[in-house]
Amino acid sequence: MESGKIYHVKPSLAASAAINAARHRLMSNHAVTDADGFWHEEARRLDWIRVPELAGNSSFDGDVRVSWFADGVLNVSVNCLDRHLDQHGDRVALIWQGEAEDDSRTLTYRQLHAEVCRLANALRALGIRKGDRIAIYLPMVAEGAVAMLACARIGAVHVVMFAGFSASGIADRLVDCGARLVITADAGRRGGKRVPLKACIDEALSLASTSEASAGHKVEHVLVLRLTGTEIAMQPPRDLEFAATVGQQPDQCEPEPMGGEDPLLLLYTSGSTGKPKGLLHTTAGYLLWARFTHEAVFDYKPGEVFWCTADIGWVTGHSYVVYGPLANAGTTLIFEGTPSWPEPGRWWRIIDKYQVASFYTAPTAIRSMMRDDPKFLAATSRKSLRVLGSVGEPINPEAWLWYYHDVGGERCAVVDTWWQTETGGIMIAPLPGAIAQKPGSATLPLPGVVPVLVDEKGQELSGEAEGHLCLGRSWPGQARTIWGDHARYVQTYFSTYPGYYFTGDGARRDSDGYYWITGRVDDVINVSGHRIGSAEVESALDTHDAVAEAAVIGVPHDIKGQALFAFVVLKASNGAAGIEAELARHVGQVLGRYAAPDTVLLAPELPKTRSGKIMRRILRKIATRDTAELGDTTTLADPAIVQELIKRLEARS
Ligand code: WT7
Repeated sequence: MESGKIYHVKPSLAASAAINAARHRLMSNHAVTDADGFWHEEARRLDWIRVPELAGNSSFDGDVRVSWFADGVLNVSVNCLDRHLDQHGDRVALIWQGEAEDDSRTLTYRQLHAEVCRLANALRALGIRKGDRIAIYLPMVAEGAVAMLACARIGAVHVVMFAGFSASGIADRLVDCGARLVITADAGRRGGKRVPLKACIDEALSLASTSEASAGHKVEHVLVLRLTGTEIAMQPPRDLEFAATVGQQPDQCEPEPMGGEDPLLLLYTSGSTGKPKGLLHTTAGYLLWARFTHEAVFDYKPGEVFWCTADIGWVTGHSYVVYGPLANAGTTLIFEGTPSWPEPGRWWRIIDKYQVASFYTAPTAIRSMMRDDPKFLAATSRKSLRVLGSVGEPINPEAWLWYYHDVGGERCAVVDTWWQTETGGIMIAPLPGAIAQKPGSATLPLPGVVPVLVDEKGQELSGEAEGHLCLGRSWPGQARTIWGDHARYVQTYFSTYPGYYFTGDGARRDSDGYYWITGRVDDVINVSGHRIGSAEVESALDTHDAVAEAAVIGVPHDIKGQALFAFVVLKASNGAAGIEAELARHVGQVLGRYAAPDTVLLAPELPKTRSGKIMRRILRKIATRDTAELGDTTTLADPAIVQELIKRLEARS
């Protein structure tokens, strides 16, 4: 099989790389033998108001503390903007390509700086201060990046929410973080259609205002950007026009001096239980990690055009659309549209149009474009590309090879990057000038990253092994806590294997020390690179009147990686016709369309142990029609259920 093949570092890439194999060895040794010294050296590449004396001060035991550069003082927006003005003020910082071909815009560092300052001044004029939370609910427009940087400038904590979340999903997050202000747009554009955003915020705010958890706290203002001319209901004095509010403000704004450990951002992500959790990233460590990893993993050279296709609502968009590229004085590309609208090949044309050097996307998108008519790819040159990145889920060797051969013309390094919202940035990945690639493997840890494989009992495994992936040491980009619930943070990440951070992923280490991520080992399902907790979808189903009980699992899917499969027990034995589709729609309304199950199977009961625990292992077998060998079913309270479910599924197809 070709997937067993090694793709050696290209001499052309190694020759110009900031990090070649020798330097990589040196850095990795330094980071192990003198971690504080190593990270201090990296920290010197940031712009400080006060240079830190302290580096790491973390403990994974007991209460768990993660702290980096706590006595340093800096401002993230200064690092991403002001610092570059002298030498690169006229360099393009941001290219925005709209969904319509002729709709595009570029902002130089000077222009971006001015826009950020104006919005930062406007926020201050509205009474926003250091530590206040600001929610951002915008489509892929330049103002998304402007809003994030404006918050960072005045020390407000931004909470970007994916524009695909539903009103109730937004409401939960607004209440949890206690946002004072929301920045949104009238509507977004997607595939030639309009996606209402302001209307969704209106609904979310009315839900939030009646939520007990809000404890009287409320959003004071909504700043509304006019993008599409969609009619919306403005509610003065709460709602304010973005242009009028920001336009009159001066284009200079005094940056807030921030402590290294002051909060920078919250990002909500799903776990195996309960509601989404707001992970907190802080100022110095997060910025350092975004800058360092962006430069190292993409061998990024200032002046090159860098394109990460992720939505800014996810962590990838934070670290590799906004903070990494801008901290490196780079040019970042933001594309509003989808890969195949108005026709396939749109992404390839954009790569040629802007001479993109690094392209970073998800396996689900790669697999879907692999299925397009090859003429669309063939119509483009893609000669500007040097590095092709993949993130979000394991990339299957077939997709890897297509990416390498067909998209990259065998000239590019393919970097499969493993990381998580919790890690702030890339943790395991091949560096283009230093590490040979194997299709399907994220390869080796970055300097200072210490992956550990443990068995079920928490015993550390050495050499070639397969087990649960943990991280043995803190790194600067690590999430510090779950907002408002440090106990949950300790419980979720540090209690399974005491002394280690547990990632929730399984992995194998081969004889070369390469890591192969095998997927989640908890009840988190990865659909098209979006993390969805089975418990979240189950609770959403439970809120439907007809539902008595539900169990949701992930099943393999050719394009999405995994798809959601829901087993639902109804309250009355006969549901109305079409209830399956209605339940899927209902989940879409409660959580957002991305979380609507592909399959809903009505079940008379769920297979449970005598103590009442749902046997998901059996549900997985049933859903994947892998029922020849069901394993031990003797602990089931009612083994007949299994045959009934198999029969029902067969009857459907
Ligand atoms: C989970 C994190 C990383 C930013 C986007 C998703 C899976 C991520 C890879 C990869 C195999 C991967 C893991 C991880 N994952 N990258 N290269 N190979 N699996 O961030 O939503 O926090 O999800 O995505 O399961 O735990 P996220």
